[in-house]
Amino acid sequence: MTTFDLDLIRKYDKPGPRYTSYPTAPLFEEAVAADAFRDELKASYEQSNGWSLYLHVPFCHKLCWFCGCNMVVSRVEQDRLDHVGILKQEIHRVADAVNPKRLAEQVHLGGGTPTYLTPNQLEDVVETLRRKFRFSEDAEVSIEVDPRQLSDDHVRLIDQLGFNRVSMGVQDFNADVQRAINRDQPFELVRDRVTQLRKFPFDSINMDLIYGLPHQTLATFGRTLDQVIELSPDRIALFNFAHVPWLKAHQKLIKAEDLPQPEEKLEILRLSVDRLGEAGYVFIGMDHFAKEDDSMVQAFFNHSLHRNFQGYTTKSGLEMLAFGSSAISMLDRLYVQNQHTVSDYETAIQKGDWATWRGVKLTDDDVFRRNLIQHLMCRFEINLSEIEAAGGSAFDDLFPDARAQLDEMVADGLLSNDPGGYLVTDLGRLLIRNVAMVFDAYLEEMKRKNKARFSRTV
Ligand SMILES: C[S@@+](CC[C@H](N)C(=O)[O-])C[C@H]1O[C@@H](n2cnc3c(N)ncnc32)[C@H](O)[C@@H]1O
Repeated sequence: MTTFDLDLIRKYDKPGPRYTSYPTAPLFEEAVAADAFRDELKASYEQSNGWSLYLHVPFCHKLCWFCGCNMVVSRVEQDRLDHVGILKQEIHRVADAVNPKRLAEQVHLGGGTPTYLTPNQLEDVVETLRRKFRFSEDAEVSIEVDPRQLSDDHVRLIDQLGFNRVSMGVQDFNADVQRAINRDQPFELVRDRVTQLRKFPFDSINMDLIYGLPHQTLATFGRTLDQVIELSPDRIALFNFAHVPWLKAHQKLIKAEDLPQPEEKLEILRLSVDRLGEAGYVFIGMDHFAKEDDSMVQAFFNHSLHRNFQGYTTKSGLEMLAFGSSAISMLDRLYVQNQHTVSDYETAIQKGDWATWRGVKLTDDDVFRRNLIQHLMCRFEINLSEIEAAGGSAFDDLFPDARAQLDEMVADGLLSNDPGGYLVTDLGRLLIRNVAMVFDAYLEEMKRKNKARFSRTV
């Protein structure tokens, strides 16, 4: 087991974006909203590339204290009913503005907890999506489920509705950790739900884990990994705990002194890479693992892996239309986000408006840097001649300050020199957000405007 140099960890452990988009969400402005979205959809009407559809269900039945997602706790039946009707209205409104010939290649229901909806409500929403968009024959259709909120009826229905991928929130199996995050979810319960899912021909079952949670140690997480391996999911996402109590007040319920230190977090990550590797999982991108025959592994090796607001995906070249509160649509040169709160979102749709709240139009420079950061985070190399070809100038003219920073990262072991530029080392892969930050044009400006309150990179 490698041990990490403490000084080095401290040097690189700083706030930084996760780069699920570039420019990042804090740069979105309210001046860019529904008009810009409609105009862009009109201008790109004749485009033929596929859609990735995302639908956000904001409700959960109970609050997990670690949660960094946009969600509300609700147990009111009427909330659910009203919301389903409103989501359907939004789907109609947006779908009517786009070319019906464009196929939905990827569809994802996230949250919150999509299985918070009853099977009937879920069916209603998915059937609406299917009526308004043509799904391609090999579309990836996936859903996030909470094992505590997943009835046998749900499982049967998500199979019937054509979902072929299921993603389950697990986070950690240790009882102390679960208590400290307010998520009581015994191993036996998850095992039972996995057994139920395996009765149906889903292409892939994913599990989400988080490292950096309170009371986690190398030993406790090692046990969690063994239990996950026993359940044999096809994919695993291992997220770094985004501790952002200034954005998510409920995270204050987690005591800072219970959190593992940065060096222990990196050890946990390294242990995970080793242990999952021994169990036959390939480490993909910065936080995903998949079995060797999984399409994500092929995409990783043949350089077609892609990164968007949902993290890593195998399908590139798609534009994303997103429905529901806080959901972000990503067109090639425009990102727009819906109203953040459920009530603002519902009010907008009920008034007959689009729910768009804020966004950003991408400049040529944004597109250039976005592609570069995407490549870096998916391929783990910096290919100078490719960058120069895309940017139309010498690398040092395009990024006058980059070389010194990259060379320092070589000295620190994050990168190695390569005839074509730089390769990211195993250590650099764990700190890839720091490498990507070299190419972000907005970090200084965001710091000045006090907009850069990101989670820490380690
Ligand atoms: C949108 S959530 C939905 C999960 C689902 N509601 C459940 O309870 O299982 C998807 C995943 O985001 C991850 N996540 C949520 N908050 C996080 C945080 N603060 N830091 C890192 N990952 C987080 C968790 O792993 C979670 O399973």
